Amino acid sequence: MTELLEATGIMLPAREDMAPGAVLLRGRALVLEADILSALASVTAAAPFRHMTTPGGYVMSAAMTNCGAAGWVTDRTGYRYAAVDPETGQPWPAMPESFRRLANEAAADAGYAGFMPDSCLINRYLPGARLSLHQDKDERDFTQPIVSVSLGLPATFQFGGRRRADPVARYPLRHGDIAVWGGPSRLFHHGVLAIKEGGHARLGRQRINLTFRAAL
Ligand code: SIN
Ligand code: FE2
Repeated sequence: MTELLEATGIMLPAREDMAPGAVLLRGRALVLEADILSALASVTAAAPFRHMTTPGGYVMSAAMTNCGAAGWVTDRTGYRYAAVDPETGQPWPAMPESFRRLANEAAADAGYAGFMPDSCLINRYLPGARLSLHQDKDERDFTQPIVSVSLGLPATFQFGGRRRADPVARYPLRHGDIAVWGGPSRLFHHGVLAIKEGGHARLGRQRINLTFRAAL
């Protein structure tokens, strides 16, 4: 049934509030789809996806890379932002103009004018991959929001509260949807349930997420 509704493109509200300061903008990335997908291919050619290890020694099921002045990395020594890709020894690829523009405009739509991201974490989920509930808290300035762009296979996004034990709501995320959270919900927990098997017309058997942050 869910697949049928997805296949027929069930209508979701264009804008949905998840919490104070947190909003879902349905299909918001589609205006820049072609530019975003070609820029994504260039970035991932220069800085290939890799599976990083958490400080606890767990290999993450989502593969990651970055673009922008700083990239989020994790290894046995901890989580941090790094100017250089530890795999290539080179600076991360520059943030494409289409990425910067999409993040800035979506943030403004959500009520956060003037967002200037310096970091974009790119997650790749193959079917079965997931991201457990966490907070984005390695950034220096929590007055800036998080802008999160979904591409490819659909996902179920979990959005909770400030404490890990707070109730968690679930939202379907589809190709082109953008979630923005900041202000009172900037440090709210969030995660992604295991991606279901499938194929996407433009991206194939994967989900890609772009997370924009003002990290430095
Ligand atoms: C993240 O929290 O880093 C990614 C969230 C997502 O993939 O939607
Ligand atoms: Fe996150």
